[in-house]
Amino acid sequence: MRTCLAVVLAAGEGKRMKSRRPKVLHPIGGLPMLFHVLNAVDEAADRMVVVAAPSSEAEIAGALAKAYPDAQVCVQQEQRGTAHAALMARAAFAGADDVIVVFGDTPFVTSQSIARMRGELAQGASVVVGGMRPGDPAGYGRLIMEGDQLVAIREERDASDAERAIEFCNGGLMAFDGATALDLLDAIGDGNDQNEFYLTDAVAIAHARGLKVNAVEIAADEVLGINDRAQLADAERLFQASRRAAFMADGVTLVAPETVFFAHDTVLARDVVVEPNVIFGPGVRVADDVTIRAFSYLEGASVEVGTTIGPYARLRPGAVVGEGAHIGNFVEIKQAEIGAGAKVNHLTYIGDASIGAKTNIGAGTITCNYDGAAKHRTEIGEAAFIGSNSSLVAPVTIGDGAYVASGSVITEDVPVEALAFGRARQVNKPGRAAGRGKKS
Ligand code: UD1
Ligand code: MG
Repeated sequence: MRTCLAVVLAAGEGKRMKSRRPKVLHPIGGLPMLFHVLNAVDEAADRMVVVAAPSSEAEIAGALAKAYPDAQVCVQQEQRGTAHAALMARAAFAGADDVIVVFGDTPFVTSQSIARMRGELAQGASVVVGGMRPGDPAGYGRLIMEGDQLVAIREERDASDAERAIEFCNGGLMAFDGATALDLLDAIGDGNDQNEFYLTDAVAIAHARGLKVNAVEIAADEVLGINDRAQLADAERLFQASRRAAFMADGVTLVAPETVFFAHDTVLARDVVVEPNVIFGPGVRVADDVTIRAFSYLEGASVEVGTTIGPYARLRPGAVVGEGAHIGNFVEIKQAEIGAGAKVNHLTYIGDASIGAKTNIGAGTITCNYDGAAKHRTEIGEAAFIGSNSSLVAPVTIGDGAYVASGSVITEDVPVEALAFGRARQVNKPGRAAGRGKKS
């Protein structure tokens, strides 16, 4: 088996994004585009090196330490072009039979395409380029072919009119035979309009040396490159379309698929029904037979079997909704466990709390979890009843089977099965409203 090093280029400034954030850290489906790339690369290569800019090194290294502890990070101090960036990983080339260079701004590359390109190396090619035919080739390097041999890649800005008419473009994915890779990269100069070292120049150099250079065609959607915000939006659209299709294929009903948005890690089990206009942020897991009604927003939440969420519900990080519970309209849940069969149906905030099984939370209940300095917990037992429009001032505990009268402000613990009133007593003044509104 040939060994494979992957060099992932992630240091470019991405000027056209007009952003303070490094381009490759802009998210698609809530995950930085670079990490979409790394997921594919990790499957296809034995080792990987990520070339980062000084501004993003710490963030990239931190995320890699968690997800890919064996990956290495190299810094490219100055952004002098894609070949210059690849050479930052020079020391790692030693001992690699195959070297794959992948761009961090091409989020949908697959391990299968990398494997195909490695296959060409194994057949004797020295350089292999992933080509594509995008609907609009503007901005991409053009592949100049002679028969089945690739002889050069011309960047759009350096191309003649005739070369610009070529529709076969550089998708950005390149594979090199480890035996000649460094020689080729070291021979690249910066004699172009941007004074950058272009990785793509390796093709003409290899061709001039009589080495075999091949292009393999890859679906354009897979090597969509992101250089500006419009392409970022295109990528998000493609990502969402593929998640929707995958969920429906797995037994999820999406009533209006194009109005539902997923994160990279959304998990939906079988027979989940998602009504229109629902958004999943990162970290959501939904078990079987759950209905998520229209206009709900979920992130960092876990929803058990058979529950109903929404319409207009907001589940924030740490929300855990137990089996068969009901979360209704205009309800916000944060860092709270809702027990099996509990009901929180209307106009309520539950934060930093736990609610026991079968407890009913009345309309307008608020857990007052924040005193301006610290957060405090509200613990509510099983089969309790919280009357409408109650404020539960945390820290506070309400026992199993307890009953809180409507309109209460609860500042002291309520024992098991106690009835608590936390409001002024009503006074009726007989006849005192008579004659109201009549002219005297
Ligand atoms: C590049 C290719 C082009 C191809 C296109 C595909 C070159 C010269 N051109 O153009 O042929 O059609 O990708 O999407 O390779 N980077 C660094 N350091 C640098 C410069 C870039 O790490 O000094 C990284 C960027 O972060 C990015 C990748 O390399 O992830 C590609 O750079 P970018 O500037 O986006 O090149 P394109 O103009 O898209
Ligand atoms: Mg690019």
